[in-house]
Amino acid sequence: MSSPFDIGPARADEVHDLAAIAGWAFTPSPADMLPWFEKIGLPSIRVIREDARSVGMLSIIRMGQWFGGVSVPCAGIGAVAVSAHHRGRGVATRLMQAALREIRDAGMSLSALYPATQPLYRAVGYELAGTRFEVTLPADAIDIKDRGLELRPATDSDRPAMEAAYARRARWSPGNLDRDHYLWDRVLHPRGEPPLSFLILGPAGVEGYVVISKAAPGTIPSDFVVHDVVAGTPAAARRLLSFFADHRSVAKNIIWFGPPSDPLLAALREQPYTVKVRFQWMVRIVDVISALEQRGYPRSAEGELHLMVDDPLLPENNGCFLLEVAGGKGSVRRSGRGTFRVHVRGLAPLYTGFQTPEAVRVAGLLEAEECDLGVAAELFAGPAPWMSDMF
Ligand SMILES: CC(C)(COP(=O)(O)OP(=O)(O)OC[C@H]1O[C@@H](n2cnc3c(N)ncnc32)[C@H](O)[C@@H]1OP(=O)(O)O)[C@@H](O)C(=O)NCCC(=O)NCCS
Repeated sequence: MSSPFDIGPARADEVHDLAAIAGWAFTPSPADMLPWFEKIGLPSIRVIREDARSVGMLSIIRMGQWFGGVSVPCAGIGAVAVSAHHRGRGVATRLMQAALREIRDAGMSLSALYPATQPLYRAVGYELAGTRFEVTLPADAIDIKDRGLELRPATDSDRPAMEAAYARRARWSPGNLDRDHYLWDRVLHPRGEPPLSFLILGPAGVEGYVVISKAAPGTIPSDFVVHDVVAGTPAAARRLLSFFADHRSVAKNIIWFGPPSDPLLAALREQPYTVKVRFQWMVRIVDVISALEQRGYPRSAEGELHLMVDDPLLPENNGCFLLEVAGGKGSVRRSGRGTFRVHVRGLAPLYTGFQTPEAVRVAGLLEAEECDLGVAAELFAGPAPWMSDMF
């Protein structure tokens, strides 16, 4: 008997059904989903239909993720939703399996997502691989006053300079996104109160920027939410902190999503802030060879790993791979002794630097000799992976 399920790109005549499914899951009403469909575009939506009726959907965002100074092609998955009366029958699992096959065939090496529930994604090869950290800084506790650099409202024509400032920071921040148009739009035009954007100008040109809005417009004091921030020099960090402090009569906290050891915080004299784990994101290694070859490695690291990968979903990833790293680059061949046995799920936190090889071993996703664990620790060493974007 043929399957009653059919999976493919969304059609224009399905938008209202899809808005009902996703609206029930994510927004106050289905109508609130419609502008989102406009922004992301129907070619980014995949639909699963049963007997020709749409019963679930997800979005695929083509982006990159920076690892070792290189942007690795990555498919962001969002808006995974199944209509309430079709849940619990493997619909989302089928849809995810088909999406991963498509992503691999399209030449993407990684996939990343924020999981509202983990078993669904673990079952198709994702694992926790990085963090969205939330920084909360009380505005009246900022102990810096430095208005040395010019700070002025940003205009549309400043966008290329903002993107360049972001890229300089993101490139060396493992896990940060290489944003496409849609992701930039989410940052600059988020839902709710329109934010204001400001540029910081110094001798080096654009040294930073901030995109900020009120968390609860009309309430005083309100927290202020930073949608995006870059401070590329010490002077820019001090100017930004002073700008935040200038809101202290009406702002309770300034909240942003940064690295766990943010240079902005290091510019403060004391520690009046908190940094908490807001969400942990997952990664799936979709193409073992290209993922390992595309990322950068520490320049001083040199060594080889004889991987044996177990991927129950994508058979091309199964088997022995020899990874050789030298001069900051990795090359991979289908050969080797297969002494570093890793489940494709375990490869994700190793790849991003989220967990040490020893931690992946303790999690039950890796078996290897002590010396190979040491080599892997050197090859994948780096600062904690993080991203500020939600998608
Ligand atoms: C999450 C959701 C997409 C799952 O759809 P589904 O078709 O019922 O999922 P499946 O039947 O394929 O189940 C896959 C796994 O996910 C688990 N799961 C399913 N729905 C779940 C839910 N709402 N919460 C937690 N876990 C859930 C199942 O138990 C199953 O795991 P198991 O095999 O270990 O038992 C669906 O419940 C939904 O639309 N929820 C609201 C929106 C949402 O949370 N989306 C996820 C955004 S990341």
